[in-house]
Amino acid sequence: MRYDTPSLIRWNARAYDSSFGYVSAQGAPLVDLLDPQPGERVLDLGCGTGVLTAEIASRGARVLGIDGSHSMIETAIAQFPGLDFTVGDGHDFTVAEPYDAVFSNAALHWLSRDPDAVIECVRMALQPGGRFVGELGGAGNCAALIAAMLTAWREHGLRDPHLPWYFPSPAEYAVRLERAGFTLRLVENFDRPTPLDDCPNGAADWVRMFAPSLLEGVPVGTMESLLRRVNELAAPALRRESGWMADYVRLRFAAVRQ
Ligand SMILES: C[S@@+](CC[C@H](N)C(=O)[O-])C[C@H]1O[C@@H](n2cnc3c(N)ncnc32)[C@H](O)[C@@H]1O
Repeated sequence: MRYDTPSLIRWNARAYDSSFGYVSAQGAPLVDLLDPQPGERVLDLGCGTGVLTAEIASRGARVLGIDGSHSMIETAIAQFPGLDFTVGDGHDFTVAEPYDAVFSNAALHWLSRDPDAVIECVRMALQPGGRFVGELGGAGNCAALIAAMLTAWREHGLRDPHLPWYFPSPAEYAVRLERAGFTLRLVENFDRPTPLDDCPNGAADWVRMFAPSLLEGVPVGTMESLLRRVNELAAPALRRESGWMADYVRLRFAAVRQ
């Protein structure tokens, strides 16, 4: 299966692992929550470069990693040639045989076009009693980063950028899951201030990696001043003596298909 998902941002898979490997590293507890069993069939939705897919496989499960980015999937296949990966859009995928579990780390907030469609695809991919275990940005995620961006954009006379994320509250996401036919087993909502160790240029580096679509319409001559201003505005909330921190809020859940 190979098809395009034009609404996706273009991920830089190499930069992702070298500078933003913390995303996968912080997903390790989520794999524990999934608790994959030997022989189980697990689908990793928005698998990125496959680091957590491989972790799940190392517990004996048979895993398929799906991601909307060709670059991510190419890197995943190169890194883990023994595992199965495919390009696919989380809003619109089907599987030949139902899975025991669907896992998703740090991806569902990117699948913002239609969260209900994503949940329905997951439901259809699971057998009854199958688990859906995920973590995504929750309401208030990156609030200081986003406020700095919006102010900097306005100060530079630019139109408000379209923010590509979906950061639901626990209640909102729980309702969506229950309405779709899932029983909730766990919902957690917590702050996770995250050091941006590999972002020497702080919030500006974060914007370049995680919000490149916002920069697409920005005139070249404005870019440097815009990003410098994002840093100035974000610094009081996010720059510590030890370095920059991202103000992440995480929503973690485990649900079972009825
Ligand atoms: C922050 S990365 C997380 C990757 C991986 N799960 C991890 O923990 O390192 C988010 C991933 O979601 C993928 N993604 C974004 N939109 C998607 C979509 N509509 N369908 C499938 N994957 C998507 C991106 O390509 C990216 O690899």
